[in-house]
Amino acid sequence: MTVPDIRALKGREKIVCLTAYTAPMAALLDPHVDLLLVGDSLGMVVHGLPTPTAVTLDMMILHGQAVVRASSHALVVVDLPFGSFEASPEQAYLASVRVLKETGCQAVKIEAGEALAPTIAFLVERGVPVMGHVGLRPQAVHVDGGFRAKGRSDEERARVIAEARAADEAGCFSIVLEGVAETLAREITAGVRAPTVGIGASAACDGQVLVTDDMLGLFEWTPKFVRRYADIRTTINDAVARYAADVRAAAFPGEAEVYRFKPKGS
Ligand code: KIV
Ligand code: NA
Repeated sequence: MTVPDIRALKGREKIVCLTAYTAPMAALLDPHVDLLLVGDSLGMVVHGLPTPTAVTLDMMILHGQAVVRASSHALVVVDLPFGSFEASPEQAYLASVRVLKETGCQAVKIEAGEALAPTIAFLVERGVPVMGHVGLRPQAVHVDGGFRAKGRSDEERARVIAEARAADEAGCFSIVLEGVAETLAREITAGVRAPTVGIGASAACDGQVLVTDDMLGLFEWTPKFVRRYADIRTTINDAVARYAADVRAAAFPGEAEVYRFKPKGS
């Protein structure tokens, strides 16, 4: 998949996206999805951080490398983490170039309000494809005082619409819409050229993304918008309990799992 392939799906087919942070997971997801997102959610999901704000560019690059190595079909997009792009278009460009060169991914994602539109345009004009991210922006957790869905007040709705328009006009090839009301998602999706990819943003979007660990039941947290397609925590818990019991009962390893070399000359 390429950036123009993703753009061309708008109005034709739904775009299927999931997050990936590691090579084995990327290899499993790659044949099924159009886009693999190395999201800064990896700070909370993989590294046990309380918010995404502590995630560094080096962390994103390390995980991005693993995902790119293990995927061949999907477009791989890597999040620019908090603090790596906001100061200036130049800072964002240098961070993006590191990500693209060191991982081999095809695009970066930027969480941005209207103020960052010139930065997005600066990147796109210089050959860096950018996915936007508006609505609930987890990197703004300290400003918002938590992770809260957007679109309750007219003022908030107007702000999210302005963010989406600005991202579209700045040249984003796709825009993540997170945590917004269905009516708002529908209005934005109809009003921008870029395909919208929703998370907690209804079926009115041009595509969907979920955090893989959430939909597999691997990460202990279930926001309203997550559908659990598997219960991997229970599977792992049961397997590890059986292993522990087998080791304690000296039932593992067994006959088939032991090396026995025949003595020489026998
Ligand atoms: O970090 C992330 O995983 C994301 C997606 C949920 C859109 O930004
Ligand atoms: Na993110």
